[in-house]
Amino acid sequence: MDSIYFDHAATTPLDKRVLDAMTPFLTENYGNANSAHQLGRTSKVAIEDARENIAKLLNAEPSEIIFTSGGTESDNAVIKGMITGTGKNEIITSPIEHHAVLHPAESLENEGITIKYLEPNEEGIITAEQVKNAISENTAIVSLMHVNNEIGSINPIKEIAEVCRESGVPFHSDTVQSIGKIPVDVKEFGMDALSISAHKIYGPKGIGVLYVKNGTPWEPWLQGGSQERKRRGGTSNVPGIVGLSKAMELAVDELENNASHYYSLREFAIQQLDEKFDEQFYVNGPRNGGAPHILNVAFLSPDEKGLDGEMLLLNLDIEGICVSNGSACTSGATEPSHVLSGIGLNQDHCNSSIRISFGKHNTKEEVTLLVNKLEGILDRMLAMAG
Ligand SMILES: Cc1ncc(COP(=O)(O)O)c(C=O)c1O
Repeated sequence: MDSIYFDHAATTPLDKRVLDAMTPFLTENYGNANSAHQLGRTSKVAIEDARENIAKLLNAEPSEIIFTSGGTESDNAVIKGMITGTGKNEIITSPIEHHAVLHPAESLENEGITIKYLEPNEEGIITAEQVKNAISENTAIVSLMHVNNEIGSINPIKEIAEVCRESGVPFHSDTVQSIGKIPVDVKEFGMDALSISAHKIYGPKGIGVLYVKNGTPWEPWLQGGSQERKRRGGTSNVPGIVGLSKAMELAVDELENNASHYYSLREFAIQQLDEKFDEQFYVNGPRNGGAPHILNVAFLSPDEKGLDGEMLLLNLDIEGICVSNGSACTSGATEPSHVLSGIGLNQDHCNSSIRISFGKHNTKEEVTLLVNKLEGILDRMLAMAG
């Protein structure tokens, strides 16, 4: 049975065009980019071409692009590398960031670093005003994501970057979920650092970008060889870098079409869910105005009790439909999602939630099938609960 895949915020399949770009570097062009011979030089040229291409797509300078193993490493490298040597001891972030930001920040608490968590509103948004009021002379870094990976809320990062700049505090934004869905231009937005992951945009897993604006104080975090101008040691992942560059190019070139496709599927799903489930159905986070590809919903029984989202997910899986019950990076853990509880939803509500995330190849027919299957499954679950 072919699966119907609605979990694109967790990961995406590799685009064939990306695979084609990568293939020579997985086969005949296998040189280590640090080797002086011809094979090595071929790899080196491919990496520098990719760096230039990505810089152009982000409106950055090539020297500001550092290749990493993905979003998690980029986030860790910022949180740990931007506080080192500043003499300051405070990080400003929010409780609904990805764990790739929250966990490294928490680990620094043992070293006397304080974390100030700004409270998001019920749609998951932090305002520039909140950031302005929270910054103190001890603030080393502000890290707030562009698009939330569970509920799709969009932070006003241009305004946030502005208040950070006025206070002379570096601003990092995790843009893992916004690339390819919302235009990202580092000069227009004005952030000092951002994180990107290739596998969320039809690229390969295990490769990403850390952008650090020239002149921003930052200590390299992963040390080793002299790769990435001594800013990130480790033999360069040449096929990954070439694939990331191609995936970014396609994500930017095709953004308008893809984003409007995701929007139309999201709208269609909400309309169908509204019709079928009415009061029992609730959109977590922004109903309108969020990221186009993410829809997080809860299903409540008539007595307002939450239904078991885990059970819902398993039943959909049996029907060949893939959704997520929160962030895939944390599935396996049974506690309620920190994002849903972070926007004030109670435990029952959090546990009854699923995330539907759309991709290029999803269709309205697939959405209709999902909604119809949900109806049958929910009827059975309600009958059992009653
Ligand atoms: C917002 C966000 N940041 C970071 C990550 C981690 O990226 P990676 O899987 O490349 O380590 C993810 C992945 O789910 C994400 O959604």
